[in-house]
Amino acid sequence: MRITVIGSGYVGLVAGACFAEIGHDVVLVDNDPLKFAALSRGECPIHEEHLPELLAKHRGKRLTFSDNLKQAAAGAEAVVMAVGTPPNKNGEADLSYVESVAREISSCMDSYKVVIGKSTVPVYTSDWVRRIMLLNGVPEGMADVASNPEFLREGTAVADFLYPDRIVVGANTERASDVLHRMYLPLIDGSYYATADRFVISDLQRRPMQFISTTTKSAELIKYASNAFLAMKISFINAVATICDAVGADIDQVREGIGSDERIGRRFLNPGIGYGGSCFPKDLSAYHAVARECGYDFRLLEEVMDINTQQRHRFLRKVRSALWTIRGKRLAVLGLAFKGGTDDIRESPAISIIESLLGEGASIRVYDPAATARSRNVLVSDRIEFVSSPYEATEDADALLILTDWAEFKQLDYKTIHKSLRYPIIIDGRNLLSCAAMSELGYYYTSMGRPDVSPQSSRQELQVSSVLSTMMPVAVGAVAESAA
Ligand code: UDX
Repeated sequence: MRITVIGSGYVGLVAGACFAEIGHDVVLVDNDPLKFAALSRGECPIHEEHLPELLAKHRGKRLTFSDNLKQAAAGAEAVVMAVGTPPNKNGEADLSYVESVAREISSCMDSYKVVIGKSTVPVYTSDWVRRIMLLNGVPEGMADVASNPEFLREGTAVADFLYPDRIVVGANTERASDVLHRMYLPLIDGSYYATADRFVISDLQRRPMQFISTTTKSAELIKYASNAFLAMKISFINAVATICDAVGADIDQVREGIGSDERIGRRFLNPGIGYGGSCFPKDLSAYHAVARECGYDFRLLEEVMDINTQQRHRFLRKVRSALWTIRGKRLAVLGLAFKGGTDDIRESPAISIIESLLGEGASIRVYDPAATARSRNVLVSDRIEFVSSPYEATEDADALLILTDWAEFKQLDYKTIHKSLRYPIIIDGRNLLSCAAMSELGYYYTSMGRPDVSPQSSRQELQVSSVLSTMMPVAVGAVAESAA
């Protein structure tokens, strides 16, 4: 099938490369001259596992780039809109890019096309796109508008696309539904997994997958509701972690206890410094706004967002408890990206925490495996230094803060780091390290919802110290000072 993908941002780029991988001819259109030039030169503008290899495999063959929509859409059966829907000041999704693309496509209708929304958009967007196209002279029956929400996670987007657990397509006509079904057929019937030159991702096998065909409105709602539910799980576990801190319980044990109930499940129950990224924060406020428009006050979502913001403050309070005062302290920070595996810093809790610490007078040396370049323009201060290794960050620092869950941070040599830190204090916002191992190595280690650890502390001592730290934050600061 010939497919045009409009927008070479995160979603468009991954979807375009993956549609080429499963056998379609794809033209990726972007009117941003810089992005278009970079793609044409063979660059991969984002850090995403497997994407550079896929682009290299298909570039110039089944995947080409264009800055001209009319040429790119000629003969295409499917036109995928993957343009940005940033939030406006009221939290609603700004649909002006979607509207202008809908207008532009109207002048490109050389044959029947299904115009497919992949961006996360409010219910009725498909209806609006259809209306805009009719108003711009597209004859009835010449085009259908469909919704195909994506569930790709940054960092694992290629694997999520090629090995999905579900594909949701919303279409209001049989003809459109058939086009969408054919777009994904190699994944649905499994023929893709039998091809000799398929892109092999180790450990991943074809798994049972559902093809869910709905109306456009239902598909649009599925995307918002999925993201809101996942964000709710994260805020829920963060709230439970706060209670664990207060009573001296261990969130890992609590998680195991509740996550092993199949109705709840273990995934997305990792406490931390809150969710960030380009989807959850934006989609939650947009969903809240959509509900308000429909006359429903979705207060549950307000609470989810509020807990998420509070989580950053909780982490900062832990830093203050461990260090007493912040002004003049030299802090090593691991992580800038909103989560491990990506260079994306949009709505990253790590960035906001670093801003607060700089505001309180700390000096920071930060390391991130991928997000440093993007962060330089955002974190501008003469008290921040971006370094190229985690060990450089920890040299002579008063404490180490872990803000992003990069897998490689688990593998660092914490024995060496212990020697290089001025004080052996770690405040782990992602619960990346083991309390017992850190105690063994002689650290004062604080995490989220788990008992604080001091060098060689026994299990009982850990619990007592956790209770004390909640009751008397300054006392822990004093412990840290005396550790010096
Ligand atoms: C999300 C959705 O998962 C995906 O389906 C959708 O299409 C796009 O938005 P993404 O933003 O890439 O994907 O990241 P995700 O893995 O969902 O994590 C979002 C945020 O939640 C990150 O900041 C992450 O660190 C945080 N998180 C995730 C937690 O704090 N705890 C968890 O248990 C899981």
